Amino acid sequence: DRRSLLAGGAALFATAACSRSTPAIDRGGANPLPVPPLLDAQPGRSFALQVQSGTTSFYPGRPSDTLGYNGSYLGPTIRVRRGDDVAATVTNGLDADTTVHWHGLLIPGELDGGPHQIIAPGATWRPTLPIRQPAATLLYHSHVHGLTAEQVYSGLAGALLVTDDEEQGLGLPSEYGVDDLPLLIQDRQFENGRLVMPGGMMVAMQGRRGDTILVNGAVNPLAAVPNRLVRLRLVNASNARIYELSFSDQRSFHWIGTEGGLLERVVALAAITLAPGQRAELLVDFTDGRPTSLVTAADTNASMMGGMGMMGRSASRTDAAAPSTVLRFEPRPSGQARASAAVPSLLASRTRPDASKAVRRRSLILNMGMGGMMGSGSGGGGLTINGKPFDMNRIDEAVKLGSTEIWEVSGEMMRHPVHIHGVHFDVLTRGGGQPDVLDQGPRDTILVKEPVELLIRFDQPAKSAPFMYHCHILEHEDNGMMGQFSVA
Ligand code: C2O
Ligand code: CU
Ligand code: CU
Repeated sequence: DRRSLLAGGAALFATAACSRSTPAIDRGGANPLPVPPLLDAQPGRSFALQVQSGTTSFYPGRPSDTLGYNGSYLGPTIRVRRGDDVAATVTNGLDADTTVHWHGLLIPGELDGGPHQIIAPGATWRPTLPIRQPAATLLYHSHVHGLTAEQVYSGLAGALLVTDDEEQGLGLPSEYGVDDLPLLIQDRQFENGRLVMPGGMMVAMQGRRGDTILVNGAVNPLAAVPNRLVRLRLVNASNARIYELSFSDQRSFHWIGTEGGLLERVVALAAITLAPGQRAELLVDFTDGRPTSLVTAADTNASMMGGMGMMGRSASRTDAAAPSTVLRFEPRPSGQARASAAVPSLLASRTRPDASKAVRRRSLILNMGMGGMMGSGSGGGGLTINGKPFDMNRIDEAVKLGSTEIWEVSGEMMRHPVHIHGVHFDVLTRGGGQPDVLDQGPRDTILVKEPVELLIRFDQPAKSAPFMYHCHILEHEDNGMMGQFSVA
C-alpha cells in the first residue's frame, strides 16, 4: 500500500512507488541550477514579456505542458532601477485570460496587474511602471481571479529585482547568476516524470502541494558557486508550501532582506521560514569550499487540518513525502582570487511610519468556514475574509491616501500568508506580544494565525482600480479568501 510505504519515511520513494510499472526515473542525477535570463530594463527603460504555453521536460524524455514568460516555464529575472519609469509590454499568447501582477512593487492600483487588469488572449498590456522604492527582491505572477493557482502552478511566475545607488554602494555580491542568485522555490507533483495538477476538496482547503521541490524549474538542482560570499534571493513561488529552511551542515547565514528590501541591520540566523509570496535575501559564506545543501523541514501547515480526521489520501501523501533537500551547493575556486566581501553591518536606513499617527484600526479574519464547507453552516461559508467571499464588484475597505492605519489580521485553522498589495508594512505585535525576530523589516506578506498587528502607510492611490489583500495560499485566494480596498 502506497500510503504505508510513504509513512515509512523517505520522500524519494514517492515517485518510485508510483512509477513501479514504468521505467524508473533517475532521481540521483543532479541538474545544474538554471539561472533565469536577466531582462535588464535599464538601457531603454523598458522590457517585454510574452506569456506563452509550451512544454518542459523536468525529467528527460517526459515533456509536460507548462506556461511561461518568454519561455516554456517561469520567466526571466526583470531588473529595474529606482527613479526610472519603466515601460512594460505584456502580450498574452495563451488562449485564456491572464494578468501580470508586480508583487511588492509600490505603484498605483491600475498598474498593479491584479484581477482587474485582465489581458485577453492575443491582447497586449502596456503599463508604465514608476519605480520609486528601495532595492528589493520582488516577484511577478499571474493573478486572474479563479485561475491564479493553476496558472502559477503551470509556470507563470518570475523574479523582479529593484536596484538603487544605496544598495550598489554596499558592495554586496552582485554578479548576477554567479554570486547573486535568484532562487524560485516551488513544490510540484509528478506522475511518471510528468507534471500533474492535484485537485479536489483537500487541495481547495489546504492548498496544492507536491512531493518534489524545484528551484528555478529544475528538479534535484545543484548550484556551482564561487568559494566566497554569495547572495541568495529566495522567492517562495509555491502555491501553498511553507519552507523552514536551513543548511544541512547547520552553518549560519546572514539575513539581509525581506519582501520590502534590505533590513537595517544584518541578522545572523541558522534557519528561516519562507511562506508563499515571501522573499528573503541571504548572504552565505562558502569560503571554506565545503559542499552543503539548503534543506527544509516538512511543512506542518497542512497537517494541522489532518488532526481533524479530514485528511484525504492525497493530503497524507504530500505531507509524508515532504522532500527535505531544496538545493545542493558545490563551492568552486573562483577564477581570480577575490577576497570574500565583508558583510556590511548597516544595510539600509528607513523611516518607519509612526504608530501614534495611525488614524484607524481594521480587523481582518481569514475564515476557513468549516461549517459552511461541510454543508451544515448557514449561508456561504467556505474561504472568506470577515465572512465575505471575494467579490470583484465589492470594495471591502476604503482607505484615505497618505494615511497610516493599524490592521489586525488573524487566520483560522492553519497559518495563512497574508499579502497586501500596494504597501509595505511593519509588524507591531504578534499574538498580543512582541513580534518574532523573523517578523522584522518592511514586509508585504506575513504568516498569521494568532492575531498580528500591522502598521501600514498607504502612499499609493487605488482609485480607478482597487488593491487586493488576500491569503497567498493560491487556492485559498482563488476560492474566496481575498478582499479589495481603495486608496483615495
Ligand atoms: Cu503575489 Cu496578490 O499576489
Ligand atoms: Cu501583490
Ligand atoms: Cu489561507
